[in-house]
Amino acid sequence: MYRYIVCSLVFILVLVACKSKKTFTQDQKNHTDFIITFGSCNKPEKNNVFWDDILALQPDAFIWGGDIVYADTDDIYKIKDSYAKQNAVPAYKALKAQVFVTGTWDDHDYGLNDGGVEYLLKDESQQAFLDFMGVAKDAERRNQEGVYSSQLLEKEAGSVKIINLDTRYFRTALTNSPQEGRRYRPNPYGEGTVLGDRQWQWLQRELENSKADFNLIVSSIQFLSDRHGYEKWANHPHEVDKLKAVVKNSKAKGVIILSGDRHISEFSKVQVPGMSYPLIDFTSSGLTHAYEDFKGEPNPHRIGDVVFVPSFGTLLLNTTKAEATLRIMGRNGAVLQELKQGF
Ligand SMILES: [Fe+2]
Repeated sequence: MYRYIVCSLVFILVLVACKSKKTFTQDQKNHTDFIITFGSCNKPEKNNVFWDDILALQPDAFIWGGDIVYADTDDIYKIKDSYAKQNAVPAYKALKAQVFVTGTWDDHDYGLNDGGVEYLLKDESQQAFLDFMGVAKDAERRNQEGVYSSQLLEKEAGSVKIINLDTRYFRTALTNSPQEGRRYRPNPYGEGTVLGDRQWQWLQRELENSKADFNLIVSSIQFLSDRHGYEKWANHPHEVDKLKAVVKNSKAKGVIILSGDRHISEFSKVQVPGMSYPLIDFTSSGLTHAYEDFKGEPNPHRIGDVVFVPSFGTLLLNTTKAEATLRIMGRNGAVLQELKQGF
């Protein structure tokens, strides 16, 4: 009898817990002008359980935040083969047929773990990436160095600019850390680059010329989290300051940074002096695998908790009110973390 009562109680608790998960209602949908989804760190040979959840949201875009595949190779055919495997996933095909897909790469699809400017196959890898993204053979992006690009989503209610950065093609060497458990320590201030000169100039123009209500900057690696020993913008501390200055001086509206790479998801937020709204770095990773042994790490800019189970990200953007609701999403519409921000 006692066992029966305990079992029943557990069952009721589970039901309540499931019910309390916020889902995306029609009412919320009606108050959202743009639904943007994104994610990173995806192994085509693993089951990505989110494609149908993402499609069910009927988003305006799905953005790849990098590590679309794990090629890690100096064989271009292996990279092409990995992309072909992803393109053959039926649920991804179904998503692509209905939803605009864009994004950038990170180190594993680029082809070299934690790699940068030194990777010998980067030009061939760029063409394979553009093939995967369905970019026309005669597109300008085929001739530039690096996969950075921008797209403008427009509707009557307003517009959203997606700015995909390339944090690989030009990125100069990192400095190894002597400390156990940390891969890298920050470079001396002023030493090296994440984006390279040409991409910096392009980014500045993209932001200064933007009339969009929201400007989403897609960086594969984390921008604001600056205490861990892995890859991050903070390994080039002067580049962090430069991006903050470029964003501030551009006066672009609703800039939000999207990142991945870490196999965890979290929100980071800072107030940049002189900016009229806070700068948020929304990290969403990974889609098929997560850092399940995560024991915590300091991030003074974190808002809320770290999610270390597979997840994807959504941004519900209201252009009229200049409001964004950012969500770290689990399976079947479960909202694992949420951050609302006015701009
Ligand atoms: Fe990854």
